Parts: sequence; C-alpha cells; structure tokens
Amino acid sequence: MNNPIVLGIESSCDETAVALVRGDRTILAQRIASQNEAHERFGGVVPELAARAHADRLAPMVETVLAEAGVSLADVDAIAGTAGPGLIGGVMIGLVTAKALAFAAGKPLIAVNHLEGHALSPRLADASLQFPYLLLLVSGGHCQLLGVEGVGRYRRLATTIDDAVGEAFDKSAKVLGLGFPGGPALERAARSGTPRFPLPRPLVGSDEPHFSFAGLKSAVLRARAALAEPTAQDIADLAASFQQAACDCLTDRTGRAIAAFPEATALVVAGGVAANQAIRSALADLAAAQGLPFVAPPMWLCTDNGAMIAWAGLERFQAGDIDDLHAPARPRWPLDPAAEAVRGAGVKA
Ligand code: KG4
Ligand code: ZN
Repeated sequence: MNNPIVLGIESSCDETAVALVRGDRTILAQRIASQNEAHERFGGVVPELAARAHADRLAPMVETVLAEAGVSLADVDAIAGTAGPGLIGGVMIGLVTAKALAFAAGKPLIAVNHLEGHALSPRLADASLQFPYLLLLVSGGHCQLLGVEGVGRYRRLATTIDDAVGEAFDKSAKVLGLGFPGGPALERAARSGTPRFPLPRPLVGSDEPHFSFAGLKSAVLRARAALAEPTAQDIADLAASFQQAACDCLTDRTGRAIAAFPEATALVVAGGVAANQAIRSALADLAAAQGLPFVAPPMWLCTDNGAMIAWAGLERFQAGDIDDLHAPARPRWPLDPAAEAVRGAGVKA
C-alpha cells in the first residue's frame, strides 16, 4: 500500500492525543489535550486523575479528528495505540479504545511502544533521516542513548542508573518553586540567570556509558536550602546552574556514545526534554564538532502527541508488523529487551 492512513492514540501519561497521519508524512488532523489544571495543585501527575481524563476525552477526540480530516474509519488503514510503557490506567484506556476501533472497523491493530513513537518521530518530520542513527531519548521517565538500526531494531548503549533527566528538571523546578509542569518553567527561569552555583556533573568523564541525575537533583535541593531568603535572581541563577550541569552531563555521555556507535549517520534527540533550547543547541555544537548532522524534531513533536504514535504505527504497518486484539498493556516495556539491567535502573512510567 503506497500511502496508508493510520490513526494514532496516545494516553500513557498526562496528554490525551489523537492524530491521523498519511504515508507521505501529511498530518491530516490532530488534537493534543494536556491535563495541567488537573495535576497542578498536586505538583505532579496523579495517575487516577489522568486515567479518568483520558476516559472522558478520548472517544470524542477521535470523532473530532476524523471529522476534521474528512476521513471515515473505513478509509483508515490501521489503528495504532500506545500499549506502554507508562501509567497503566491511561495506557489501558488508550489501548482498549484502539482495539475497539480496530475490531469495529475490521482494521489491523498496531500496539505501539511509546518509546518507539519518540524514537521514530524524527523521521516523520525529516524524510531524509536514514537508519542507522544515534538517538538521545530524553523524557520524564527515560534517559537513554540508542542505536536505531531500523524499525523495531534498537540497541541500548546507555541508560540512567537513577533518575531520568526530565524527572530531575521537574523535581528541581518544584524545589525552586517554579510550578508545574517543571521542565519548561525551569528553562524559562534559567533564561534570566547566570550559572554561578557549583553543581556536580555525575559520571562526566567516566568510562561507564550511563547517566546519573540523582546527585545533581539533591545538590539543587541543598543549594536552595542554604539560601535563607532567596531573591528571584538567586532562583534564576540556580535554575541556570542546574540546566548547565544537565547539558554538560548529556553532551559528555552522548559524545562517548558517538564513539561507541560509529555507524551513525546522524545524532538525533527526541522526547519531551528535547524541547529545551539550551540542550538542543549544546547537542548541535557537539554534533558539529564530530562532523555529524544533527536532527531535532519540531518542539511540539518532542513532547507527547498522537502523530508520533500514528507514525510509528505506520512504519510498522508498512513493515508488515501488526498485532492482534490480545496485545497486552505494559507498564514497562524496554525497546532493547536484550540490554542488561543496570544498578538502580530508575525506569519509571
Ligand atoms: O516525552 P514527554 O512529553 O513525556 C514522557 O514520555 O515522559 O516528556 C515530558 C518531560 C517532563 O519531564 C517535562 O518537564 C520535560 O519533558 N520537558 C522539558 C521541557 N519541556 C518538557 N524539560 C526541559 N525543558 C523543556 N523545555
Ligand atoms: Zn513521552
């Protein structure tokens, strides 16, 4: 099939999202609803509230996206839904919705790994991006370096031994009183700050391939506690210091992985934290110094969305890799099942 149309559903965290994507990379229609108001007063995502919001919104959102594109379910070639990893209540709602649509319309189901959605999303935005590429996947729950060798072929080169970098952003933002969601708020604060606080850069320079962010996060907490009455400038400076340290950790570890995966045709960054401008520009500099093209999807495609799930589904559909209605919802689902567990491995939702 030359130009298939795939409906994608995403509900693994706090974004409810649906998109219709065609094989020529056209996004026919899409919707993304965040739930910030529901979780803001708790300072983090409450799984039960997230699942209820997905249940309320998903079916009407599918109807809206189909209507806006002027496409009926009969015109859709496959239904793709996130089947994990993520907050299991939300994953079940999205996957069951995808199964019901696939069953009712007699279409193939593709149970998509959310991480594969992030990993392949740069190819939706950039038709010239070929395999193999080196991917830095940075989100709220994951921080990994992957050799992306093809659809369904991922080699994990590094992961975090404790916290994900997005989690470190979110927790540091909370400690600094910057609100929810923390990553974008911390980036905004850092813009008016100077990185004058000496903070640690865990594992930088080490022979071990992995990441670590727990020590950096705790150092932000201690530095904040040492300021009796911090001014807005102190907070901005501490935010800038954290962001600089996080950038240094990411670029050092990525530089090491470039050497370990010499077949890479490009350095690619994806996942929610890839929306951070300071991180994008530090990685662009690293790639330029190594003579590698640098690819970062547009900002909206970095954070969770339905188009990345539709696109990963489309790539799998075109490879003839489809699922049946027994596909399970999985709270954990590594992209490279053969990779060794690391000590502490803080792989959360
Ligand atoms: O991929 P994503 O939308 O959801 C997960 O799969 O986790 O990533 C969300 C994470 C959160 O930790 C959020 O704070 C972080 O991405 N994030 C950012 C920025 N925008 C989102 N972190 C730093 N700077 C940003 N601009
Ligand atoms: Zn994500």
